[in-house]
Amino acid sequence: MEFTALLLLLLAEHGLAQTTTATGSPASTATISPFSTQGVNTTATGSPATATAFPPSTTVSGSAISNPTAFTSAITVNVADLWDLFVGPVSTAAINTTVSPTPIPTNELIPPPGLYYSSFPSGQQIPLIAKNESWKFPAGFWWGLASAAYQVEGAAKDEGRGPSIWDVLLHRVTGYSVANQTGDIANNQYYLYKQDIARIAALGVKTYSFSISWSRVMPFGNGPVNELALAHYDDVINTCIEYGVEPSVTLYHWDLPLNLQNQYGGWLSSNIVDDFAAYAQVVFSRYGNKVPRWFTVNEPIVFCENYPLPDNYFTNTSIPKKQQPFFCGHHVLLAHAKAYHLARSLGINGTISFKTNGGYKIPLTNSSADALAVQRAWDFNEGWFANPTFINGDYPHYLKEYVSGLGLEFTDEEKASINGTADIFAHDAYTSQFYMAPDSGVDACVSNSSHPLYPSCANTTYTYSTADGGWNIGPAADPLSPWLHKATDWVVPFLHYIQDTWRPTGGIAITEFGFAEPFEVYKTVKADILFDPIRSSYYRDYMQAILMAISEGVNVVGTLAWSILDNLEWSSGYQDKFGIQYCNFTTQERAYKASFFEYVNAFKVYGTDEVVPHYVPS
Ligand SMILES: *[C@@H]1O[C@H](CO)[C@@H](O)[C@H](O)[C@H]1NC(C)=O
Ligand SMILES: *[C@@H]1O[C@H](CO)[C@@H](O)[C@H](O)[C@H]1NC(C)=O
Ligand SMILES: *[C@@H]1O[C@H](CO)[C@@H](O)[C@H](O)[C@H]1NC(C)=O
Ligand SMILES: *[C@@H]1O[C@H](CO)[C@@H](O)[C@H](O)[C@H]1NC(C)=O
Ligand SMILES: *[C@@H]1O[C@H](CO)[C@@H](O)[C@H](O)[C@H]1NC(C)=O
Ligand SMILES: *[C@@H]1O[C@H](CO)[C@@H](O)[C@H](O)[C@H]1NC(C)=O
Ligand SMILES: *[C@@H]1O[C@H](CO)[C@@H](O)[C@H](O)[C@H]1NC(C)=O
Ligand SMILES: *[C@@H]1O[C@H](CO)[C@@H](O)[C@H](O)[C@H]1NC(C)=O
Ligand SMILES: *[C@@H]1O[C@H](CO)[C@@H](O)[C@H](O)[C@H]1NC(C)=O
Ligand SMILES: *[C@@H]1O[C@H](CO)[C@@H](O)[C@H](O)[C@H]1NC(C)=O
Ligand SMILES: *[C@@H]1O[C@H](CO)[C@@H](O)[C@H](O)[C@H]1NC(C)=O
Repeated sequence: MEFTALLLLLLAEHGLAQTTTATGSPASTATISPFSTQGVNTTATGSPATATAFPPSTTVSGSAISNPTAFTSAITVNVADLWDLFVGPVSTAAINTTVSPTPIPTNELIPPPGLYYSSFPSGQQIPLIAKNESWKFPAGFWWGLASAAYQVEGAAKDEGRGPSIWDVLLHRVTGYSVANQTGDIANNQYYLYKQDIARIAALGVKTYSFSISWSRVMPFGNGPVNELALAHYDDVINTCIEYGVEPSVTLYHWDLPLNLQNQYGGWLSSNIVDDFAAYAQVVFSRYGNKVPRWFTVNEPIVFCENYPLPDNYFTNTSIPKKQQPFFCGHHVLLAHAKAYHLARSLGINGTISFKTNGGYKIPLTNSSADALAVQRAWDFNEGWFANPTFINGDYPHYLKEYVSGLGLEFTDEEKASINGTADIFAHDAYTSQFYMAPDSGVDACVSNSSHPLYPSCANTTYTYSTADGGWNIGPAADPLSPWLHKATDWVVPFLHYIQDTWRPTGGIAITEFGFAEPFEVYKTVKADILFDPIRSSYYRDYMQAILMAISEGVNVVGTLAWSILDNLEWSSGYQDKFGIQYCNFTTQERAYKASFFEYVNAFKVYGTDEVVPHYVPS
């Protein structure tokens, strides 16, 4: 298929800005075989596009205009040109073909001795606490581990992948990353996935939740489809199934195809809605009913608040910086809803949701000002995406007051289309925070767009008030994750709050939770790294809180620990560790940490379903 992206060189007042504009044949979705409700046809796909279909050469097709300030020219670029122009050279891994798994040595499956707190009574530990007979995970409870494409895959340019905004952010933007590290190689999971799946299967993990790289499947974000990428994810999904691990798939975990950002501003433009749906159609049509749980987007609060992107690396936009997150969020809701209805029309039988993020919001004091700040914080965080999808298709009160002033209002038709488009409440809930009114009071903030807390006008802290002792809410995580404290005491009220407020008919899933063990990066002895006491106690206490909430009638249906292994923590690089497996980034060796056993033990002790380890078949 012939495809071109136009590179417009704009000689503007302040210098040279570069904009790519994708044109060419329409997305190949039109040629995709109709989805069969009988099941998924793994061989039927869209266009026969392959990496070699992308034009290897560059041709100039523009024309100069006499006025230099209005000069434009159009250049046809291919995927390699996008890399060369916007990213530059990338590192490659020593291993660049898919590796067959080897059996997991049985001595690696022996759990650690007990920690200083009472861990779950299991394995070779001396039972320190009796099992609580009123706790149980119901039959069918799904639990597992999560990752995201850019954080683990590596193989940045391999097999036709196009660049995403994160390749630019980490390669080009000085100071964006704490140690100038990129996802070029990461865990090299693009080639090592079989062993990674075998390793989690060996401990009986039920679910692996990973994301698909949009710019692998569609290197320009729209237009031609890369069959090599689809074939790769065929094998990832099939390998999960072979090992008795259910695949959960996220379509978008922050790695926006660079071309879409440059073409029209990415999520800032309503153009993204159709492009996201076209991408979703390719993926749903290919993998459909092999995947029991789908997530459209991951943590829109975070990736929308990543706007504005740094100046001078991407196409400029006229939307004021402070407003950009809300334009992004508006288009996310429309794109999610469109993908949801598309999946249903294709006969997809798995659950479809989006993963949102946040934590319980505790008023710092019992003042009415702090109560108002807490409600505003709910409206500007969880409520931003959960009210439209779970309640009425529209924004919550305080957020609506703000965004309707930006012209971001849903039509009745859009509201009806957004309402009811999440089958479960999928929440990435790592921690909790105190909230309080700004020093100036809420009103002085709401009426002042220059106020530092505008527009949410809710301040936040991780310490109790001085009157209450001034302690942290709980132990702090690594300093590179200043937003994270262990606050597992608040999980039970939080789960009640979600159920009572948004009433998800399919229940609540904690789709990410985890802890960055402080200063783990400074440990040099592997055996020291593997013993991770705060992370282990975090998982123990969190799982007990979920059990308590279930015993009180909250419908919690699943959990996904973040993360399957140490990986690229975005702008913190490899310095901030969330893995329940260690990864040596020199050798790509993996090893289970103590916290992995603690997490699994929760299900060994309290699961209705047996935890069944699956070993590598010989
Ligand atoms: C979805 O369809 C597939 C293929 O027909 C089947 O194996 C699976 O059990 C179905 N899942 C659900 C939740 O119905
Ligand atoms: C898959 O495609 C093959 C070849 O086109 C066809 O024979 C088969 O019926 C299809 N299977 C399903 C489940 O659609
Ligand atoms: C794979 O690695 C080998 C050895 O390092 C190298 O010669 C080869 O060019 C690489 N292949 C690709 C496609 O990068
Ligand atoms: C990252 O790169 C910048 C620019 O080259 C340099 O100034 C800085 O010292 C580097 N930081 C680290 C931690 O290597
Ligand atoms: C883009 O916007 C930034 C800040 O809004 C400004 O500094 C810069 O000059 C703009 N660049 C161009 C090429 O217009
Ligand atoms: C807040 O708590 C304090 C101390 O418990 C109490 O004296 C005060 O009356 C409470 N105020 C309100 C508004 O509830
Ligand atoms: C939104 O959907 C819920 C059920 O999912 C329904 O109870 C409610 O009436 C709907 N609201 C609107 C405004 O359509
Ligand atoms: C927010 O709270 C912190 C104390 O945690 C305080 O230092 C800061 O001034 C407050 N910010 C505003 C804008 O009220
Ligand atoms: C608005 O907030 C800014 C920043 O805090 C402050 O300098 C300014 O005085 C405030 N304006 C009014 C009218 O309060
Ligand atoms: C990681 O591997 C390198 C190379 O073999 C080795 O020097 C280093 O000690 C390993 N790191 C740990 C923590 O084991
Ligand atoms: C056992 O579970 C119940 C119900 O969640 C709880 O009230 C009780 O405190 C638990 N007992 C212990 C010893 O943790």
